[in-house]
Amino acid sequence: MKKSAIFISLAATGVLAYPGMDRALAEIQARDDFRLETRSTALFGDVAGVVVTPVGEDIKGILQGNSATADSSTYSPPGPLGSSSCAKDPLCRWYWIVQDMQGKFTDQNGCTDSARGAIRQGFHDAATWDTSSSYGGADGSLLLSDELSRPENKGLDPIGTTTKAWFETYKQYGVTMADIIQTGAIVATVSCPGGPRIRAFVGRKDDSRAGPEGKLPLPFQDAQYLINLFQAKTFSASDLVALVGAHTASKQFFVDPARAGAPQDSTPSVWDTRFYAETLSSTNDSSIFTFQSDKNLATYPSTRGQWAAFADPQGGQGQWGPAFAQAYFRMSMLGLNNMQNLTEITRVIPLPR
Ligand code: HEM
Repeated sequence: MKKSAIFISLAATGVLAYPGMDRALAEIQARDDFRLETRSTALFGDVAGVVVTPVGEDIKGILQGNSATADSSTYSPPGPLGSSSCAKDPLCRWYWIVQDMQGKFTDQNGCTDSARGAIRQGFHDAATWDTSSSYGGADGSLLLSDELSRPENKGLDPIGTTTKAWFETYKQYGVTMADIIQTGAIVATVSCPGGPRIRAFVGRKDDSRAGPEGKLPLPFQDAQYLINLFQAKTFSASDLVALVGAHTASKQFFVDPARAGAPQDSTPSVWDTRFYAETLSSTNDSSIFTFQSDKNLATYPSTRGQWAAFADPQGGQGQWGPAFAQAYFRMSMLGLNNMQNLTEITRVIPLPR
């Protein structure tokens, strides 16, 4: 379908009907990197109302379709952590925290077990929220309550221990567990060769109440159940397909304990689109272990087209990187009601490898 036809049909269905639509459509027309007709532009939290701060406008713009991929700006700290010059600059403490994280997330092969744990941990903290929740989301509760003992969080103990130690070290500088978890997921993603550099913001509030139950997916659920589960968190079906691509950097330990350590694609230290192609061809008697839930999404009528587009060796990687960045950015904001008061720290996030 031609893009202009897509826009007309979207305008007709109201999918993109929001203030500033003309500007957004002009931006969208300038890009080819995303299956725009199916991306979520839904707003939630405090940016769904009147937005009065520049950072609120930025975040609202990204949720409505502006790029979530960072440019190449970097940052030089004015001094070491703990120095008075560092204390004056909110980015400085994060520069040093990110350096510490990156040391755990990278090795000569690409990204490490800690990195894959951190990516999953960011998802599991944030996704306890959906639009029917009055609490939960990216609030640190995964590690501040007993959430880790829930069955769906099996496997997160090692990265949980590492992250709690970071929190103990850095909380004296005024950072929250929620921000350490989400910044960790973003640093871990770009630590995998090929991973996008996602725009990062801090200032989330912690909550030690365990988040609502039953909001996280399980590896045998059917595609329509998963689409509905993620739709309730404001993700479209294509956003879900982009998000599960994180299994490019994944290993399983508890779905089939007899095959503990089996990856979900043949290159688990690299952020590539082999996961999409190999999920389609996997038989589970090879070295790769495919989750039934991923197979379900790969073959379901309303998600298999997006799946195949990401699997395409010609253009899949170029399309998936920005799509994942956009969807994960949304994830990192779930449940927040103070987005207008966050601080952008993107410049301290490492450049792509
Ligand atoms: C349909 C939705 C999803 C299901 C059913 C699912 C399920 C699972 C399961 C069962 C594991 C293996 C746990 C183990 O046995 O050790 C896993 C690992 C992982 N998942 Fe997902 N997941 C989903 C979506 C996501 C999303 C949205 C992300 C991130 C954006 C993500 C990131 C990861 C990562 C990085 C790992 C590897 C963890 C490690 O190696 O330590 N998953 N997932």
